[in-house]
Amino acid sequence: MEFMLDTINIEKIRYYQSILPLVGVTSNPSIIKKEGKIDLFAHLKEIKEIIGKGSLHVQVVGETTEEILADAQAILDQLGNDIFIKVPVNEAGLAAIKQLKEKGVNVTATAIYSEMQGYLAIAAGADYLAPYYNRMENLNIDAAAIIDALVAEIKRTHSSSKVLAASFKNVAQVNQACRKGAHSMTASPDIFAQVFSMPSIQEAVTNFQKDWEGTFNVQNVKALGDSEE
Ligand code: G3P
Repeated sequence: MEFMLDTINIEKIRYYQSILPLVGVTSNPSIIKKEGKIDLFAHLKEIKEIIGKGSLHVQVVGETTEEILADAQAILDQLGNDIFIKVPVNEAGLAAIKQLKEKGVNVTATAIYSEMQGYLAIAAGADYLAPYYNRMENLNIDAAAIIDALVAEIKRTHSSSKVLAASFKNVAQVNQACRKGAHSMTASPDIFAQVFSMPSIQEAVTNFQKDWEGTFNVQNVKALGDSEE
């Protein structure tokens, strides 16, 4: 599973970049809004520097195909040709995805709520497909089944598209997406924090440390090594 962070908060990206095996950072206009009216391109350039070889996914906001393509070009001009352009899969967006892929642009097809949107994005050559897990569940759509079907279609057609499961509100949803074969996931820092917040984890670490100290009367393995030199 590839792990990505769904935020443009610099502090959180720095923090989790040092902890997680991150392969990218994803964003959308609502995520950008959380940071306020920032100097967007300077901010995104800083994120690119922090994540190095990781991928940065930036979304268009234009409504027509022409507007989407113009947004995509502006993003590529400002941030470089290695950016993944996020395009919602509606009619205008799918038309734009086809044209972007003909030009060799990296594309993340987003706002996927149905199998058919995903099948079309795969056929159009999108590099990543972002099905919205929690939003689908809120609509009583079986998000796990959608991911299962998209993964099967990718396999069946020998496509190089990857399912980038998104829109998670808890770790159980991530686990389910992983079990269904999602190649990648993106989630807010809160979801990753949830993974490690189980009290039993720290309790186990503390007890191991106590047992070590109780046995050797030094704090850690290094201290024991130093004392035996
Ligand atoms: O990346 C898009 C996805 O994160 C949307 O998530 O939380 O707005 O449903 P959310």
